[in-house]
Amino acid sequence: MRRAGKIVGEVLLRLEEELKPGITTGDLDRLAEELIRKAGAVPTFIGYQGYPKSLCTSINEEVVHGIPGPKVINDGDIIGIDCAVTFEGYVADHAKSFAVGAVSKEETDLIDRTRQALMTGIEAFQLGNRIGDIGAAIESFATPYEYGVVRDFVGHGIGRKMHEEPQVPNFGRPGTGARIKTGMVIAIEPMFNLGTHEVEVLQDGWTVVTKDGKKAAHFEHTIAMTEKGPEIITKI
Ligand code: MF3
Ligand code: CO
Repeated sequence: MRRAGKIVGEVLLRLEEELKPGITTGDLDRLAEELIRKAGAVPTFIGYQGYPKSLCTSINEEVVHGIPGPKVINDGDIIGIDCAVTFEGYVADHAKSFAVGAVSKEETDLIDRTRQALMTGIEAFQLGNRIGDIGAAIESFATPYEYGVVRDFVGHGIGRKMHEEPQVPNFGRPGTGARIKTGMVIAIEPMFNLGTHEVEVLQDGWTVVTKDGKKAAHFEHTIAMTEKGPEIITKI
């Protein structure tokens, strides 16, 4: 799993370098697939419930699960890139949001705080805590900023499959849910909106957008509870 985490971590760093106005989401996807296969890994998303690509690329009001294609990335866009890879049967799942060119302070703050919320959630992944402590930490991080915290999509256990038990919501009550144990591996993935928490799925059956059209950000790490404590396996 560590190898899978390192591969997907490096893929996102490489994609960030390519992220300039004029590039298409399809270009990013092609590069990602090439990098993943060169590393001897497999893009986990391809074929997952019929999903066609290696990445999810979600621009502006798109929250998650945008499908790469001919869409051009413009100056002033914010984009979430989500990718999972399978190496020797184990999966690592990772996502980051980026600002492209000149983006408003409100939007760069949204991106920074969603990243910080992920780190706050990771800090709650401790032996003795419960899964609800993670969601509670993320939700209370968002409260002062009045961001909409997406509820319809959640983090998850991960291992030989991308989605395993338990579900890891980005909201909840402290002291509830499954107890965190050694050997547990989860993906924590807060999605914050500038408007309300409400989202809907577009006609393509995948792309999740905010109902009010306001922008959204998404970050995700895969974290393992090892004998030595928590380890962020998708962090380079
Ligand atoms: N990586 C997403 C998640 O975090 C799932 C993507 S769905 C897929 O759970 F179809 F694109 F694979
Ligand atoms: Co995930």
